[in-house]
Amino acid sequence: MDTHSTRPRNVWDSLIYLSVSFLKVCNCWKYSAVRKYLIIVVVCFVYLFFTVHVSRTSTRQDKRPDLWTGNSVYSQSKNDQDPAEGEVNESVSPTRSNVVYITLRSKRHKPAIIRGTVRPKLRRKKVKVRQQGVTQGKAKDAGHNISTVNKRLGYSELGGSDTGYSTIRIYSERAPPWFSNDDITAMRFLADSKITQIDEVSPQGFSSLILFKSATNGTDDVGECRKCCGIVKRPLDMSEVFAFHLDRILGLNRTLPAVSRRFHSLGDGQPCPVVLWDPSLSPVVDQPSERLNWGSYQTSLKHKCWHRGVIPKPEWSCTSIHHHEWSKLVVFDFLLQIYERLDKNCCGFKPRPEDTCVELGHHEECRDKDSIELRHIVHRKHDPHRLVFFNNKGYFDRDEGNLNFRLLEGIKELPDQSLSVLRSQRLREKLLQSLFLDQQYWDSQGGRQGIEKLIDVIERRAKVLLTYINAHGVKVVPMNS
Ligand SMILES: *[C@@H]1O[C@H](CO)[C@@H](O)[C@H](O)[C@H]1NC(C)=O
Ligand SMILES: *[C@@H]1O[C@H](CO)[C@@H](O)[C@H](O)[C@H]1NC(C)=O
Ligand SMILES: *[C@@H]1O[C@H](CO)[C@@H](O)[C@H](O)[C@H]1NC(C)=O
Ligand SMILES: *[C@@H]1O[C@H](CO)[C@@H](O)[C@H](O)[C@H]1NC(C)=O
Repeated sequence: MDTHSTRPRNVWDSLIYLSVSFLKVCNCWKYSAVRKYLIIVVVCFVYLFFTVHVSRTSTRQDKRPDLWTGNSVYSQSKNDQDPAEGEVNESVSPTRSNVVYITLRSKRHKPAIIRGTVRPKLRRKKVKVRQQGVTQGKAKDAGHNISTVNKRLGYSELGGSDTGYSTIRIYSERAPPWFSNDDITAMRFLADSKITQIDEVSPQGFSSLILFKSATNGTDDVGECRKCCGIVKRPLDMSEVFAFHLDRILGLNRTLPAVSRRFHSLGDGQPCPVVLWDPSLSPVVDQPSERLNWGSYQTSLKHKCWHRGVIPKPEWSCTSIHHHEWSKLVVFDFLLQIYERLDKNCCGFKPRPEDTCVELGHHEECRDKDSIELRHIVHRKHDPHRLVFFNNKGYFDRDEGNLNFRLLEGIKELPDQSLSVLRSQRLREKLLQSLFLDQQYWDSQGGRQGIEKLIDVIERRAKVLLTYINAHGVKVVPMNS
């Protein structure tokens, strides 16, 4: 019998084929009939076990890619490749043929090593790549087709209302559940709206901002600009976009919507973060002294201002902000290592020359800690007990040996909703799913690979935070507002 020519066609063929082969290989023909049958039965059993097991596992894997409820997101490849077509209808349901799957489950088991080595390179490299991208692009376009460049930049500036193309990618029925409808509307507005004017303005209580206005409900008064103005930040501040997504995933809901957007006239052709402007924002002030410093902040934490409806006494140094708001702020600021609010002089970590607290190589004072002012502590005039996280420049290139634990000082409770996300092992998946929406941001960070590196950093900090909580007996409590 020629074993090579008899190829198994179905399960029974396979079984017979296997048994015969086995008998041949082990040279068992000489055994008694009973033994032979016994061997055949054993082989069949083993074969069936593997067939059933393997087919089960593969069905399970097939189920993985699912809409927003599952672990993957859709990307309409047609849409991705040819934005200029302008015929794409966002509400089209994805079909097998026009969909590319992105698996959200990470292939990476070990986190990349960032401490000390990869970390500083990451930033420099990114800048270099971007600069190269820009100069190369320019050179190429100048040589070949300037009109296309202008047109392309023009598209993003004039926005999707004209082209039907949005850089906010939602290809399934629903956006991820951590975004409200208002968030999605705001993201689309920021990314796609037609811009009529870009101005530098100085709203009361804020340093000057670059604001773009949209035609939708144009008004010259910044104070009237409700959902029709966006703050344009520097390309360097791109972590604002990550911060917005993280805020929503952690269930905090304290940041203003932010997306990445390219401008014809700003940011040197690099994408800039744009943040929804809200005219009702106002800085929080400490009533008696008109300024909020570390000492009075620490005192106010001890008295749990406004907790359980208790009206604070004057000597408690309370502001209008509810006690729990600081706990929310601290989770957020610690994960992103934002120090400008609570530690503007960088007293809790070793700053690098490029940090804002270091001016001309001189590190500002840390000796009189209590008098150091808090900054960018903002709320809405009509909602004074709640913070708004405004100015969320985070730092991904700070390694775990140099984290700012001063941010956690005085904090005895943290919000359970956020902590359950950090503990859930699904933070990465959620961040990927969320950040994928913002195509400009996604691409500006080097696509999936770049985004995963940023998430690595946040995951490691989350681990440090969880360890800190256990070590210091910080309580995890519900903080629903
Ligand atoms: C997109 O599709 C929806 C429903 O299928 C339809 O109501 C809408 O008019 C379409 N929009 C465009 C621009 O084709
Ligand atoms: C430039 O791009 C436009 C639009 O894509 C095209 O029609 C034109 O032929 C191009 N010109 C050159 C010189 O490649
Ligand atoms: C613009 O203003 C009009 C009238 O005040 C209002 O109905 C409309 O919803 C506004 N549009 C936007 C995009 O805010
Ligand atoms: C999020 O915050 C905004 C602004 O304060 C508020 O209008 C909205 O209802 C909040 N959403 C949730 C889900 O709490």
